[in-house]
Amino acid sequence: MITLALSKGRIFDESAPLLAAIGLSLAEDPGKTRKLIVATKNPGVRVIIVRATDVPTYVQYGAADLGIAGSDVLAEHGGVGLYQPLDLAIAKCRMVVAAPEGFDYESAVKQGARLRVATKYIGTAREHFAAKGVHVDLIHLYGSMELAPLVGLADAIVDLVDTGNTLRANKLKVVEEIEPISSRLIVNPASLKLKRSALGPVIDAFGKAARG
Ligand code: ATP
Ligand code: PRP
Ligand code: MG
Repeated sequence: MITLALSKGRIFDESAPLLAAIGLSLAEDPGKTRKLIVATKNPGVRVIIVRATDVPTYVQYGAADLGIAGSDVLAEHGGVGLYQPLDLAIAKCRMVVAAPEGFDYESAVKQGARLRVATKYIGTAREHFAAKGVHVDLIHLYGSMELAPLVGLADAIVDLVDTGNTLRANKLKVVEEIEPISSRLIVNPASLKLKRSALGPVIDAFGKAARG
């Protein structure tokens, strides 16, 4: 039996066409069922439903043989104990620094101001500002980062942007690009050795499906 870790919502929605293409359609809709282990049309493959940030952990410890995780989540996790064979090119967005429309971020940085930055992505933010030599105090939030500058919790945020609708709705603007984000297939290296005959074809099929 092969176990695939997925998260509900965006990752599942954008993975569904790939899963269908390789014969792994789910027996139940993860958005509706309360079950956390869901069978697929392939009797040798089951899916476990976990939080997006927990996918790398399940795969790292071998509780899942493979999973689909955003490169944002993988960067925070560190990727230790994970084989990352494929960029699936789904759930694409950008990691950026954003600030209020009226805030002169460039000048603040030039003047060496110490900035308060709110983010869910502490590791990515720390690395980004350290590489630029910008002094920051990081505030760890778990969501709705766009709110922080509006209520005086932070000067800027590090978060994901896709359409830009959330930034616009909250009168924020992108002040720096950090990196493009997409979801990756991740595999437990021990599983790959022990179950190569079962896992190899699934990984190859994901590759073909992702290339369209
Ligand atoms: P949770 O809701 O459990 O806190 P989450 O917010 O990380 O987790 P999702 O919003 O489903 O869960 O995001 C899952 C992944 O999808 C992210 O890790 C990222 O790679 C990608 N993603 C997040 N937001 C967007 C977006 N607006 N557009 C495209 N991809 C996105
Ligand atoms: C993500 C991200 C941004 C928004 C960006 O939030 O954290 O807030 O999408 O997308 P946009 O540029 O298209 O507006 P999400 O919708 O996942 O909400 P949540 O994680 O706070 O539940
Ligand atoms: Mg989200």
